[in-house]
Amino acid sequence: MSAIVLIGAQWGDEGKGKVTDMLGSRVDYVVRFSGGNNAGHTVVTPDGQKYALHLLPSGALAPNATIVIGNGVVIDPKVLLAEIDGLAERGTDLTSRLKISADAHLVMPHHRALDRVVERYLGSAKIGTTGRGIGPAYGDKVARMGIRAQDLLDPGILEKKLELALREKNQILTKVYNRKAIDAASVIEEYLGYAERLIPYIVDAKTLLWDAIDRGEVVLLEGAQATMLDMDHGTYPFVTSSNPIAAGACVGAGIPPTRISQVIGVIKAYTTRVGSGPFPTELFDDYGQHLRKTGHEYGTTTGRERRCGWFDAVIARYAVRLNGITDLVVTKLDILSGIEQVPICVGYEVGGVRYTDIPMTQTDFHHAKPVYEYLPGWWEDISKARTFDELPANAQAYIRRIEELCGTRVSLIGVGPGRDENVVVHELLPAR
Ligand code: GDP
Ligand code: IMO
Ligand code: MG
Repeated sequence: MSAIVLIGAQWGDEGKGKVTDMLGSRVDYVVRFSGGNNAGHTVVTPDGQKYALHLLPSGALAPNATIVIGNGVVIDPKVLLAEIDGLAERGTDLTSRLKISADAHLVMPHHRALDRVVERYLGSAKIGTTGRGIGPAYGDKVARMGIRAQDLLDPGILEKKLELALREKNQILTKVYNRKAIDAASVIEEYLGYAERLIPYIVDAKTLLWDAIDRGEVVLLEGAQATMLDMDHGTYPFVTSSNPIAAGACVGAGIPPTRISQVIGVIKAYTTRVGSGPFPTELFDDYGQHLRKTGHEYGTTTGRERRCGWFDAVIARYAVRLNGITDLVVTKLDILSGIEQVPICVGYEVGGVRYTDIPMTQTDFHHAKPVYEYLPGWWEDISKARTFDELPANAQAYIRRIEELCGTRVSLIGVGPGRDENVVVHELLPAR
């Protein structure tokens, strides 16, 4: 056993947090490798307590896992400290368990300001970002103008880099967008305050992880966002600004591809999306409302209503092939109880042409009409089921059809938000 990757196979909010939390007690390290506090991962512990994690890996609630924020993450220090304090108030002290990569980039006030003004500028063409400064922070990283966690260790460098960044960003804010300039001195003062508290957590994370893997310890790499929000392979430009796919875990944590032994793909039994962009199986009728209400489909980070639709097997198969998924976790199967016939999208039609894979161009994908197959539904409350045999026959058939269409096995089925509310089909990891 070495490193295991867990990723979202749709447009996010598949339940990655719940599954990571569930596996947290069976691994030594839980590492976030991409995204920032655009993520919202919900964890419900066995005592019924609910946590919304944005930057901290969802292994935070498992008492023994070391949690690592990898180099691929963009960190808003204020949000991170609030999260650390919030957990401490609820009895979880992370002082000795949290590590932050020295190479992770920081989200700065100018990133948040630019995220907001650019979205406003785009008008009806907006991406529908979370407004957390994520795109501009990654933009600066790629443009080699970013500020990293390690810069907090050297106030001179921090000041120099910030002044350089603001020299450009303030021109853009004031001259292009007619906004106020950001004062470098007050940002430095604010960030030096964060530095005092964050420095003890900053480490050379990849060496730490290499050593752990060499000792035979188990590292779980927890994805944020999802396959269809991937910068290169998602519905560009309606994507996030990082690579949330499995390959991104290698880059975002510094783990070699040859050390990844398993890729867990988390997928909802139906589909949701937040923000703009194509979504072939989106429902605008009572079924959409039903899924939203029954599945509590409101964003963990922004509170926005999630767009809801039926399961899209074209996307699921794409995610399996792109990420090399070895095990699927199908979450929220409980939400589909009580639907007479459950549609599964098995292909698209675009201008009279039938597709079984995602069309090559975004223009075609925007016009994709779902082709449905209808499976008989089930009426039973399945939330108490813990084995595959305890599921109604039609729910079993629904899962088997997903396996067939995706070409991979379903190893775990979520039947409720709690850590233990699962049907275990195949053990994902040996219990400890
Ligand atoms: P993430 O971003 O992938 O971690 O997912 P979110 O936490 O944003 O959204 C998933 C939501 O579904 C959360 O409110 C979870 O508590 C909830 N959830 C996860 N798995 C299940 C499940 O199997 N059944 C039900 N009913 N809720 C679930
Ligand atoms: P988790 O980890 C769902 C979406 C935003 C927007 C697009 C770009 O909880 O699954 P950004 O702020 O990243 O520049 O926004 O990506 N988005 C998510 N949607 N779940 C998420 O994270 C998301 N993170 C970003 O809604 O459409
Ligand atoms: Mg989420």
